[in-house]
Amino acid sequence: MAILVTGGTGYIGSHTCVELLNSGYEVVVIDNLVNSKMEVVDIIKSITKKDFKFYQGDLLDIDIIEKIFNENHIDAVIHFAGLKAVGESVSIPLRYYHNNITGTLNLCNVMNKHNCKKLVFSSSATVYGVPKSVPIKEDFPLSTTNPYGSTKLMIEDILRDLYVSDNEWSIALLRYFNPIGAHSSGLIGDNPNGIPNNLMPYITQVAIGKLESLGVFGDDYDTHDGTGVRDYIHVVDLSKGHLKAVEKVIKEKGVNAYNLGTGTGYSVLDIVKAFEKSTGVKVNYKIMPRRAGDIAECYADPTKAKEELGWEAVLDIEQMCKDSWDFAKKNFK
Ligand code: NAD
Ligand code: UD1
Repeated sequence: MAILVTGGTGYIGSHTCVELLNSGYEVVVIDNLVNSKMEVVDIIKSITKKDFKFYQGDLLDIDIIEKIFNENHIDAVIHFAGLKAVGESVSIPLRYYHNNITGTLNLCNVMNKHNCKKLVFSSSATVYGVPKSVPIKEDFPLSTTNPYGSTKLMIEDILRDLYVSDNEWSIALLRYFNPIGAHSSGLIGDNPNGIPNNLMPYITQVAIGKLESLGVFGDDYDTHDGTGVRDYIHVVDLSKGHLKAVEKVIKEKGVNAYNLGTGTGYSVLDIVKAFEKSTGVKVNYKIMPRRAGDIAECYADPTKAKEELGWEAVLDIEQMCKDSWDFAKKNFK
């Protein structure tokens, strides 16, 4: 069984390639390396002791997608490739719409042509906009607050329309909550360029001494300690969810959305404390004003994924912090 992984050298894609290879799947990767490094290919091979084909290419170039489908028999696709920085998407929306949407259209057109109609798509909890309540269920209203989120919701709509037009498709829309952590080898993880926007990479860079202190964005939310609450999920658990989703799309036709989260919310200060406890390293922080566009609480009801995919997250917050820290120590200079 061969799986094409778009964006397979990125943070979540690389962990998913490891899980796929360890489970006996054949893997083919396409990535343009706009947000990842070539060396990840060899790292995945060394972790798994398995080989796979890597194409350095862009989903905006339909010819390379054609070439991949001509050269390989692809059974299903896991589609991670996309640009993901919320703030950047506000500054350069056209690039985000073009990359994420045109890239997906090119991919689906080639899949259609080659009669490969099994797709797992990386969506995001961002499609719930400001949720009406928590925990969030898949049938909650969808909306977005920035161009990045709009690309995710538009792609979900496109894929739902695609299924309506042709019931031979099987599509899983995976709505991730907040992935953190890293592979136990410490060799792959989240290594954003420049100053991180997301909480855990910021914490690890403060802990390692690259940044002076963490700004906690707001302590006046209606939460247990006033700081924002999120559903942090270990990237290895998240990756395993993709294997379950692949099994599902291989077995059954249809289009289904699934929340991939733990169902537990932690505040910013909970995370700082958990990090300090599990690593023994102090994290300096100071309270700052709220960040524009942030919401008080966002966490999943993951019941549907448990019932329909047979998946649930098992790794706890201490493990997430410990693995993020091990990766940071090995990789942040
Ligand atoms: P990432 O940036 O580490 O990985 C994405 C990969 O896609 C990168 O390696 C990049 O080089 C590649 N890529 C981007 N555009 C491409 C194109 N046009 N052609 C070929 N390759 C391209 O991001 P990630 O954290 O691994 O996220 C993977 C997916 O999950 C993304 O679609 C992202 O929007 C989504 N997602 C991520 C998070 C998160 O917190 N990390 C949360 C929700 C959803
Ligand atoms: C962000 C994105 C979301 C995306 C998700 C995963 C925004 C508005 N949303 O979600 O679309 O799907 O990342 O990539 O950017 N925090 C601090 N200090 C920091 C960084 C974060 O206090 O330096 C707080 C935030 O206010 C929030 C929590 O930590 O309460 C998590 O923030 P972050 O990691 O950026 O994720 P989200 O905002 O949940």
